[in-house]
Amino acid sequence: MSIYFEEASRTFHLTNGRLSYLTKILPNGQLGQLYFGKAVNRRPNFDHLFERVARSMSAAVFEGQPDFSLDHVKQEYPSYGTGDFRHPAVRVEQPNGGTILNLVYQSHSCMLGKPALEGLPATYCENEREAETLCILLRDDLTELEAELRYTVFADLPAIARSVRFVNSGQQPLRLDTAMSFCLDLPDCGYEWLQLSGAWSRERHIHTRKLAPGIQSVESTRGCSSHNHNPFVMLKRPETTEFLGEAIGFSLIYSGNFLAQAEVDSWGVTRVTMGINPFAFSWKLEPGEAFQTPEAIIVYTDAGLNAMSQAFHRLYRERLARGWWRDRPRPILLNNWEGTYFDFTEEKLLEIARTARDQGIELFVLDDGWFGARTNDLAGLGDWTPNRERLPHGIAGLAGQIEEMGMKFGLWFEPEMVNKDSDLYRAHPDWAIQTPGRRMSLGRNECVLDFSRPEVVDYIYNSMAKLLNEAKISYIKWDMNRCITEAFSVKLPPDRQGELFHRYILGVYSLYDRLAAAFPKVLFESCASGGGRFDPGILYYAPQGWASDDSDAIERLKIQYGTSMCYPVSSIGAHVSIVPNHQVGRVTPLETRANVAFFGAFGYELDLNALDRHEFDQIAEQVKFMKQYRELFQFGDFYRLVSPFEGNLAAWMVVSRDRKTAIVGWYKLLNEVNGPFRRVKLCGLDAQMSYRVNGAGSYGGDELMNIGLATTDASAGESLPNFQPSHDFDSRLYLLTAE
Ligand code: DGJ
Repeated sequence: MSIYFEEASRTFHLTNGRLSYLTKILPNGQLGQLYFGKAVNRRPNFDHLFERVARSMSAAVFEGQPDFSLDHVKQEYPSYGTGDFRHPAVRVEQPNGGTILNLVYQSHSCMLGKPALEGLPATYCENEREAETLCILLRDDLTELEAELRYTVFADLPAIARSVRFVNSGQQPLRLDTAMSFCLDLPDCGYEWLQLSGAWSRERHIHTRKLAPGIQSVESTRGCSSHNHNPFVMLKRPETTEFLGEAIGFSLIYSGNFLAQAEVDSWGVTRVTMGINPFAFSWKLEPGEAFQTPEAIIVYTDAGLNAMSQAFHRLYRERLARGWWRDRPRPILLNNWEGTYFDFTEEKLLEIARTARDQGIELFVLDDGWFGARTNDLAGLGDWTPNRERLPHGIAGLAGQIEEMGMKFGLWFEPEMVNKDSDLYRAHPDWAIQTPGRRMSLGRNECVLDFSRPEVVDYIYNSMAKLLNEAKISYIKWDMNRCITEAFSVKLPPDRQGELFHRYILGVYSLYDRLAAAFPKVLFESCASGGGRFDPGILYYAPQGWASDDSDAIERLKIQYGTSMCYPVSSIGAHVSIVPNHQVGRVTPLETRANVAFFGAFGYELDLNALDRHEFDQIAEQVKFMKQYRELFQFGDFYRLVSPFEGNLAAWMVVSRDRKTAIVGWYKLLNEVNGPFRRVKLCGLDAQMSYRVNGAGSYGGDELMNIGLATTDASAGESLPNFQPSHDFDSRLYLLTAE
C-alpha cells in the first residue's frame, strides 16, 4: 500500500495493489482527476490522461490556451462559474454575494493510519498498518477558505474513504451552500446505475437503469436517510454480474439528508458526487471556524457485485461498527411488538418471556408502551418513566425478573420524539421543531425534538441514563418514527436556519456517543419505522438495525437481498413473526420464516403462547440451530446467488473464513407443476475440498461451484416420489461441511 507524489508531474497516486487513484495538480493549480479503477503500476507521470482540446463555446482557463477549459477537464473538487457548467462539489457564498472560488493546491501530507472525523461517524483503523491517509490542502486566496481533501486507502480492501474539511482562515464570514464529500469524474458513461429505493415496509429494493446524459440522482430531504432512498449507489458495467465484471460502489456514512448524483456530460464523462444534500442546507463559517463533511466510501471491483458487497461488509462490520458487540454473535431475541402491540401487562410479558426462555431464546425485548401515559400512540412520548399501572414493579423490577429467569432484558426508546400529550411537551413546547406562526404537522401523532439544541439532548440523555443505571438493561431498540417538517430551530439565528438538519443529526450522533461510552456493553439496535434510517452513519453506533417493519418472509427476501448490497448480515435485524403476516396477510411456513431470518441478527416477534406444541418444538430446534451456526451466518462471507427480483426463486449463502462450513438458503416463491430440474451454482468454497451436504451426499467444492448443487424437488415432473415435496413459499437450508 502506498501513496506516491511524483514531483515533476505533480501527480498523486494512491494504490494498494487492488485499486489506483490518480489525481494531478493542473496548470492552474486546481486538482484534476486522471483515473480511478483497477491498480496500475507506478510511473513518473500520467500526463497523457490530462486530456485537452479546444471546443467552441467553452471558456478557457488561460488566455491563449483554448484547449484548457474546465468545461471538459476531469476535476477533483470542482466549483461552478469559471468554465465548468456541471454541478459542483462546493459552493460558497461570500460577503459580497459572489460565489466564485479558485481552490488551488497549497501543500499535502501523508500519514499512516486514519484520523478520526470530528463529531461524525467514520471508518477507523486498529493499527497504522491497516491504512494510509493523504491530505491535500487547497486554498482560495481571495476568501482565504481552505479545503483539506482527505483520502484513506485501506491495505486489504479495494476501498478508499473520502471527506473534506473546510476552514475559514480569513477575516469575513462565509456560507457553505454545497459541500459534497467527494467528486469523481469518470472518463465514460458505459454504466448502469443501481440504487436501493422503496418506501416504508419495502425498503432497499434494487432498481437499475442505464446512465443517460444529464443528471440521475437519489436523495433524502426528510431529515433522515429515509425508507425511500438509501445513501448507497453503484455504477456497474452492463455485462457485470454478481460473479464477474466491473462495478464501483459509493456509500455515504451519514444519516441525514443526502444526495448521490451522477451527471453525464456532453462528452460522456460521468461526474459522481455524494454528500450532504445541498437542498435545504447552508452552513455559516465564521472566521476561524471549521466544517467537516461526512465520509464517503468508494469500492472498486472487477470481480462482480458479490466481491464489491463483501468489501463493504468487511469494512462496515469490522472497521465502522464498534464496541463490545462488534465481533460478538448477537443474542437471539424475542420482541413483544407484533405479539402484543400496546396491549400488555407485566404478567403477560413475563408469561411470554418464560415461554421464550424455555425455547432457548436469550433476550426479551419490551417494545413501545411501557412509559408515561403511553397506552396507544397518542400520548406519552418523551416521558421516559415506567407506567406503574402496567408495570407495577417498574422497569427495574421487570428486568430483574427476566434476569432471574436466565434471560437478558432489552428496552425500546424513541428518544428524538415527543407527543403533544406528554409532560415533556407541556413543560417545553418550544423543544419541538416548529416554524413560528406556522401550523405544525404531526407524524404518527409525534413532534420532533430539536436535537440541534444541546440542552434537549442532555435532558434525553439523563432520562435514558437514569433507567440504564437503575435497571439491568442489556439492549436498546432506538426507534424514530417520523420525518422532520416545518424545519426551524428557535435557538438558531436567521442566517443559521440552514444548519438545522445537519445539526439535528450531529445531536443524534452525540446522544448515541454518550450512551455508548457510558454503557459500553449495551447492544443498540437502530430502527426508524423499520428501515427508515438504515445507513452506515447509524451502524457506527448501533451494530444492528431493524431492517423493515415488513416481517413477511417472502417480502423480506427482496429487502434483505437489496440491503446486502452494502450492509453485512450481522447488521440486518430479522425476526420470525406470526401468520397470517400482519403486513401482507400471507401464510408462510414457520420453517421458511426462520430460513430467511437466520441470515440476519435473528429473533422472534410474536406471542409465543399463541402457538401449538409442534410449533414450540420447531422453534426450540431453530434456536438450537442458530446458536450453533450464528457465527457463520453473521460473520461468514455472504454471497447472493439467485435474485428474488428476477424470478420465482431466490438463493444466497454464507461461507466460513476457513471455507470448511457453508449454509445455502434456497427459496421458492410459488410452487410449480411439471417444472424443470434445477441446480444452483455455489460460491466461495474450496475447489479442492469435498463437502458433505446435509449429512447425506458428498461433492467436491469444484463440482458445487462449477456444476451446481441439485435443488430439484417434487414439482419437477408429475410426481417425483424420491424428491422433497414442494409447496408455495417453500425453502430449504443446505448445510455443507468439509470432510
Ligand atoms: C416502529 C417500529 O419499526 C416497530 O418495530 C415498533 O417498535 C413500533 N415503531 C413501536 O411503536
